Amino acid sequence: MITLNTDHLRGFVSSEDIKNIFPAVKSAHEDLHFHKGKGDEFTGWLNLPSSIPDDFLNGLQSLANQVGKDCDCLVSIGIGGSYLGIRATVEFLGGSTKIPIYYAGHNISSDYLYGLLETIKDKRVGVVVISKSGTTTEPAIAFRAVKKLLESRWSLEELKKRIICVTDEKKGALRQIATKYGYRSFVIPDDVGGRFSVLTPVGLVPLALAGVDVKSLVEGARGAQEEYKQMDLDKNSCYRYAAIRNILYRKGKKIEVVSSFYPQVYYVAEWFKQLFGESEGKSGKGIFPSSMIFSTDLHSMGQQMQDGERNIFETFISVDRPEHDLTVPHDTDDLDGFNYVAGKSFDFVNKKAYEATSAAHFEGGVPNMTISLCKADAFHLGHLFYFFEKAVAISGYVLGVNPFDQPGVEAYKKKMFALLGKK
Ligand code: PA5
Repeated sequence: MITLNTDHLRGFVSSEDIKNIFPAVKSAHEDLHFHKGKGDEFTGWLNLPSSIPDDFLNGLQSLANQVGKDCDCLVSIGIGGSYLGIRATVEFLGGSTKIPIYYAGHNISSDYLYGLLETIKDKRVGVVVISKSGTTTEPAIAFRAVKKLLESRWSLEELKKRIICVTDEKKGALRQIATKYGYRSFVIPDDVGGRFSVLTPVGLVPLALAGVDVKSLVEGARGAQEEYKQMDLDKNSCYRYAAIRNILYRKGKKIEVVSSFYPQVYYVAEWFKQLFGESEGKSGKGIFPSSMIFSTDLHSMGQQMQDGERNIFETFISVDRPEHDLTVPHDTDDLDGFNYVAGKSFDFVNKKAYEATSAAHFEGGVPNMTISLCKADAFHLGHLFYFFEKAVAISGYVLGVNPFDQPGVEAYKKKMFALLGKK
């Protein structure tokens, strides 16, 4: 499954520190499980994996088969929690899906949208438009543009086969649009916030349509739900991780760098940043979440990591067994002098680079932990999604904030609406 290695915390986090924070973690656990904590109305994600009916997952499979006959690409429209989990999953699994998936509504760039519309204009397109509130500017105006393109090519009856809305059961403009035009729709549960919604129809519908094994994704999360229930810091690595983050934060480590030697983790880290940033960054508090992909970023951020201000801790995400491995070829001339690694696998070299980096960063004053996944598959990703969701809930309660609201994201919207003349 997944493991947490804390060897490189020696001298930064003591067993005394763990003992001292235990009451706060226990109280966070009780607040969460006995529904006593702040923002409890948004804790529907807690028991979500075990409550997803298998019939629902089978139904998605049938829908995917049907859509697969009518469409040769999919456009997933959404932003934040209605985008990142989908992309994180697709990219983590290697990036190539059964039918290609394109993204819209996660920015307002005209060049981006123009390029997308050019790419899909002659294709048999399927669209999943996702917005919990149903009123978010970016996906709403991108959907207008994509819908206009589709309307220029197909009848309303045909559009009903091609457009799927994922939104609130009753509220918001997207629900009204789905009802008015008779588009197929799915409901986002009221009690699950955007950044916790990857295992609701928000993630499951587009991922299933793109051909991802959503049953395994959910199965992995179900295992995590069971595993991370116990209030025992020795046995519960998710709670241990949450506790350690807070200990480090109190000792001045204000920045967490999620790093990985596996580029497919890039969007998982983007998803992580939203989850942790929106959950903890409030009331003047919160660890600043950031990410790096190595060894690429060792050649740009390596200096800062090794030698800059010591206000950082690092969480590596590692994959034990890659899907494919290659061997470094032998070269007769050996002009580059790299025959000493000839015959070794690229993954072996990559893992040595990771071991060297985690040791060097530790010695340079960056405490680090490693979360290892056996494989980069849907099952382990589902487990990891739940691990981080539960960790941020516990971590946020220990920090003393409501991990389930996001009042700060409204500030730019108010100013933007005023500038745009919204009535
Ligand atoms: O976590 C959140 O609630 C937000 O970041 C949302 O995910 C994001 O704003 C998208 O919102 P919506 O799904 O309502 O369009």
